Amino acid sequence: MREELEEKIEKVLIDEESLTKRIKQLASQINEYYKDKNELVIVGILKGSIMFMAELSKNININCTLEFMDVSSYGASTESSGNVKIMKDLDTDITNKEVLLVEDIIDTGRTLEALRRSLEKRGANSVKIVALLDKPERRLIEIKADWVGFKIPNEFVVGFGLDYNQLYRNLPFIGVLKREVYE
Ligand code: XMP
Ligand code: MG
Repeated sequence: MREELEEKIEKVLIDEESLTKRIKQLASQINEYYKDKNELVIVGILKGSIMFMAELSKNININCTLEFMDVSSYGASTESSGNVKIMKDLDTDITNKEVLLVEDIIDTGRTLEALRRSLEKRGANSVKIVALLDKPERRLIEIKADWVGFKIPNEFVVGFGLDYNQLYRNLPFIGVLKREVYE
């Protein structure tokens, strides 16, 4: 039940309307940046980026293909293991392509750093990053996304694609989980 689901949320950090508005702004900046290119490969990182990827790509006005990669994630814990393993790779050749990586959140920076390097090695013409959320306080690896939706404090967030133990991805907002849920 919806109430039971939302009961686990301490507070709403970013509501649905703010997400929609900000994602449209990001899309128009991205459209402007790629306006002279005739094709873009948008790569969503599963599963956290699905909602963001959907909202964003609806507002992209250049030819694009939508691709997905899955890399090892936190599992049931809220701490990064430090290992980034590719579980599902791209099934398309990105040689000479413009690639836009779509990520839900940048935390330590390990995932994106590893992914960016891997895609550059395959001969992409460019690899840019758009992240919906950024937790700059947690950064261990120097990496900057090219576009960021929202900078957030160091709190574990769920909703709009983000999960705890695979749950809460379907919430339409970004919220902070009550500590009692994972402690
Ligand atoms: P790194 O540390 O490599 O991690 O930048 C990025 C990945 O960690 C996950 N992550 C979170 N997932 N709520 C989540 O649901 C969070 O607050 C959170 N912080 C990090 C996420 O999968 C991201 O891709
Ligand atoms: Mg992720």
